[in-house]
Amino acid sequence: MQYRTLGTSGLSVSPVCLGTMTFGIPVAENDAIRLVHTAIDLGINFIDTANVYEGYSRYLGSAGGVAELIVGKALRDRRDRMIITTKVGAPVGPGPQDRGLSPVHVLRELDRSLRRLHTDFIDHYVIHWPDKIVPLKTTLAALETAWRQGKIRSFGVSNHAAWQICELLWIAERRGGPPVVSSQIPLSLLRREFQNDLAFCLKHGIGVTPYQSLQGGLLTGKYRRGKAPPEGSRAAEKPDWVWKLDSAMYDRLEAIAALGGQISAPMTHYALAWTLAQPAVSSVVVGATRAEQIRDAVAASELTIPADHFSQLDALCPPPWRQPDPVRG
Ligand SMILES: NC(=O)c1ccc[n+]([C@@H]2O[C@H](COP(=O)([O-])OP(=O)(O)OC[C@H]3O[C@@H](n4cnc5c(N)ncnc54)[C@H](OP(=O)(O)O)[C@@H]3O)[C@@H](O)[C@H]2O)c1
Repeated sequence: MQYRTLGTSGLSVSPVCLGTMTFGIPVAENDAIRLVHTAIDLGINFIDTANVYEGYSRYLGSAGGVAELIVGKALRDRRDRMIITTKVGAPVGPGPQDRGLSPVHVLRELDRSLRRLHTDFIDHYVIHWPDKIVPLKTTLAALETAWRQGKIRSFGVSNHAAWQICELLWIAERRGGPPVVSSQIPLSLLRREFQNDLAFCLKHGIGVTPYQSLQGGLLTGKYRRGKAPPEGSRAAEKPDWVWKLDSAMYDRLEAIAALGGQISAPMTHYALAWTLAQPAVSSVVVGATRAEQIRDAVAASELTIPADHFSQLDALCPPPWRQPDPVRG
């Protein structure tokens, strides 16, 4: 396992981070605990959860907590083997203080996460979504309090654009507090809208931890044109969590699989290796319902995609528009 640094955090993380969004349903508690232990045995030292995760039961505003409780149980006798990331900000109830990035909500949810995870500190605390109302300096002051109390050791953001990360860096520098060190964004061959922000992250020491790099399972090769989704798969069990599988999508998936086939790479390996090859990427957050899927992700981290495949993949899955550079090309 080739560990990578998570931005300027000082943490060395495995290139695969275990996602836990499906802990509870469909991955029942005992199976989820076994998955965590398998991940550790394979050398994975990075786990991603959130205060709101509770598997397929999740709806906007539901209380969450299930995945953190399971992770806490799984790590009870091996806490030091995992760098724990958990997140705050998404709604956990109907009340005005039940969401967002106010100090009241953040510090209350942090204490709840600590209790559920059975730990005294979170290695890496992440702001799940931006909050349009609460000023960033107000949220930063709360995170700084938690950091000084030793409840969090570093922090990052998720679903934030580069300009929002830039603002956080400015404020932290002025305050002399801990800087943001990571950015968790959706990034896959099929979803590239944040890709232009990677250059900013590289330049400013922000470790990127992409999520849904298998696009919920679409980039695994298991969904076939004209065939029903395999039994137990996400498309069969929770179709509203999977992008639409229409004819254009199958065209694209088949073309990606064919390119991967040229180097005998299974689609899962090829898709994850592509994400891991992007600038500033520290670790890719992968969901798994079975131990073989974790083994597959670890194997993917050892694959190198040939240089000439990147432009062919760009032709199939266009990158976001980027201003041409007349000076440097
Ligand atoms: N920050 C955010 O806003 C945010 C948002 C979403 C997710 N996340 C994080 O990212 C993690 C991953 O998200 P995700 O699970 O939606 O996306 P994903 O990693 O793209 O998809 C994972 C799913 O693909 C299938 N799969 C994985 N490996 C496979 C393999 N080798 N062969 C066949 N199928 C395979 C499994 O589903 P089935 O076996 O059920 O088909 C698995 O649950 C989450 O757990 C969470 O930690 C963060």
